[in-house]
Amino acid sequence: MKKLFIETYGCQMNVADSEVVASILASQYELTTQEDDADLILINTCAVRDNAEQRVRARLRELESWKRRRPALMVGLLGCMAERLKTQLLHDAPALDFIAGPDAYRTLPELIEKAAAGEEAYDVTLSKSETYDDIMPLRYAANGVSGFISIMRGCDNFCAYCVVPFTRGRERSRNPQTILAEARQLLADGYKEVTLLGQNVNSYRYEADGRVTTFADLMEMVALLSPQLRVRFATSHPKDISDELIHVIAKYPNVCKFIHLPVQAGSTSMLQRMRRVYTREQYLERIATIKRVVPECSIATDIIAGFSGETEEEHQATLSLMREVGYAAAYMFKYSVRDNTYAATHYQDDIPEELKIKRLEEIIALQQQLSLESNQQDVGKVFEVLVEGTSKRSADQLFGRTSQNKVAVFPKKDAKKGDYVQVRILSCTAATLMGEIV
Ligand code: 5AD
Ligand code: SF4
Repeated sequence: MKKLFIETYGCQMNVADSEVVASILASQYELTTQEDDADLILINTCAVRDNAEQRVRARLRELESWKRRRPALMVGLLGCMAERLKTQLLHDAPALDFIAGPDAYRTLPELIEKAAAGEEAYDVTLSKSETYDDIMPLRYAANGVSGFISIMRGCDNFCAYCVVPFTRGRERSRNPQTILAEARQLLADGYKEVTLLGQNVNSYRYEADGRVTTFADLMEMVALLSPQLRVRFATSHPKDISDELIHVIAKYPNVCKFIHLPVQAGSTSMLQRMRRVYTREQYLERIATIKRVVPECSIATDIIAGFSGETEEEHQATLSLMREVGYAAAYMFKYSVRDNTYAATHYQDDIPEELKIKRLEEIIALQQQLSLESNQQDVGKVFEVLVEGTSKRSADQLFGRTSQNKVAVFPKKDAKKGDYVQVRILSCTAATLMGEIV
């Protein structure tokens, strides 16, 4: 059998998609972790910020010289960059043999055949219905304990800065029965945790035979499969965090007490420019409800620094909101203008680079402090931890995650990967909890 090497950039959705791709090609290609062995290299790309694209371009240049040495090697580009740039990259990057957008992976066998015959091979058609729901992903990237299930695709929100609605197309939800079947399969394979994935999971909505399944319904259905299976989800839009969902999180011990709720910015004026459709006050009301109904819930976020027109006052409002929420973790980015987005066509990218960097650094420094404070509050308490493996630092230590999605490290004792253990937290850093099994 021929050998396939897949490299994945960007979000968890891409990781899940790469597993779908591996499954689609499984009858023709065997996966390899050695790129030198590969007959086919697939690069699953991200277009959300320019630096992600630059990394891929550098990689393509590297592969160009490789291919001079190994002319039989084929290289295909997948994902959001493929969709955004379409055939342009086929002309710009001589290393590339073919291109497939996020909804075109079923056509990969034909694209490979065409490219092998020397024809121009690309498919960047976006679909209103493709969810790959009948394809069982080949979980080569998973650790055997925690797996992803993609439950919806695309995004209809068109936030002003974001390229995703253009690269991943319209929002569509997958049949809940196929999601449950996949979760059952993971359980049967010994998995202890599933993360329901989507660009915007809580707008999940499936309607068939007059019956509507909401995201809260779906979470409940998955939670009920087994008390031994933890359930997580990522990622959410604040406008769709319903009371029903918050109550499902509170009700089931195996639904993880963790919500990733990207705020992006802390002032209503900036949120309006970003077209986020909620105000600072509405966001804080959702946070207050979460804290009231699920007091042990931890909250993480995404923040963009230096978006168009950002005033010092707006930046300060972001910092004050971060303090008010007390995020346990955050992904923080410098604004990167993306072609075709509302911001690219209607606003100036007018914050100087140095100021963007300065504001981003302030945001990161504050988050470092908030993460440490959040972890310090856990010292002395006991948490259930799902063991994911041996710690990178020491073979005598295991690591795993609490329900709150915090990484805990502790001496092994008799525990092993896949076990649930009770861990008392003894100390911490901003990134890690350290403890012992009790
Ligand atoms: N520039 C910087 N960050 C962005 N994000 C999305 N688009 C951009 C952009 N143009 C961030 C948002 C989103 C996360 C996945 O990436 O914070 O939540
Ligand atoms: Fe992008 Fe907004 Fe959709 Fe998230 S909700 S993928 S930030 S457009």
